[in-house]
Amino acid sequence: MIKKCLFPAAGYGTRFLPATKATPKEMLPILTKPLIQYGVEEAIEANIKTMAIVTGRGKRAIEDHFDISYELEHQIKGSNKEHYLNEIRDVINSCTFTYTRQTKMMGLGNAILEGEALIGDEPFAVILADDLCDAPIGILSQMIKIYNKYQCPIVAIQEIPEDKTDKYGIIDGKLVDDNLYIISNMIEKPSPQDAPTNLAIIGRYILTPDIFDTLRDTKAGKNGEVQITDALYQQAKNGMVLGYKFKGKRFDCGSIDGFVEATNYFYQKKSFQ
Ligand code: G1P
Repeated sequence: MIKKCLFPAAGYGTRFLPATKATPKEMLPILTKPLIQYGVEEAIEANIKTMAIVTGRGKRAIEDHFDISYELEHQIKGSNKEHYLNEIRDVINSCTFTYTRQTKMMGLGNAILEGEALIGDEPFAVILADDLCDAPIGILSQMIKIYNKYQCPIVAIQEIPEDKTDKYGIIDGKLVDDNLYIISNMIEKPSPQDAPTNLAIIGRYILTPDIFDTLRDTKAGKNGEVQITDALYQQAKNGMVLGYKFKGKRFDCGSIDGFVEATNYFYQKKSFQ
C-alpha cells in the first residue's frame, strides 16, 4: 500500500522571478488553483491520505493554504461566494499534511532524503508539482497499480523532442509489458549527442524506502547536486527499476511556455464543463 506522497517544494523558482520573490512557485495558480493543489488532488485520487511536503525558507504560504482560515470562513459563510472554498475544504478534510524544511539547497535527491523523517520505512510516491498532469485516471493511480504488481521503484516517462534531452533525466531500457520498460540506463540531463533515447523522466515516482540509504551514498552529480536519477540508476543496476509511459497529458509548469499551455488547456476544459 502506498500511503504517503512526498512533495519536494523547496526550490527557488528562479524562472518565474519576480513572481516567485515572495510567493512559492508551487503556489502559482493555473486558473484559480495553485499548482501544488493539483498535485495533492492527484495523490488523493490515488487513495493517499498523508502529504509530506519538503519546504524551505519563504514557503509558509503552502502551509497556510492547506489550513483553515478562520477569518475567511467567518467572512464568507452564508454568502454567495462560499462555494469558492469547497474544493480546498474537501482537500483539507480528506488528508493530513506534514512538513519539514530543506536547509541546504543540494538538489532533488537531497530534498527527497530530507523527507525521510516524514516517510519512514515504507514505499511512497513523489510528485513534482511543476509537472502538472491531467488524465481520466490519475498518473499516480496508474503507477500504483503497476507497483502493486511488480513491487519495485517506478518512474513516469514520456517521449520528448530529441533536442530537449538536456532538460530531463533520460532512461534506456527493455520494453517488457504495455508501456513498461525495465530500465538499463539513466542519465541526468544528457546533451542530445549523449542521450541513449528520448524517453524522459516526468515528475512522478514510486520509491521504496531503501532509496534513502542509496541517496546517502550518492555523490553530487549534474550541477553539483545530489540527483534522484543517479540514485535510481544505482538501484536499477542492483535490482529492478521500471519506467512507465503513462497515459495522459503533462505540462511543464516550471517553464513559461508550459505554464501558459496549461492555463489555456484548463480554461478550455472548464468552458466545456
Ligand atoms: C527533475 C529531475 C529530472 C526530471 C525532471 C522532471 O529536474 O532531476 O530527472 O526529468 O525533474 O520534471 P528539474 O526539472 O527539477 O530540473
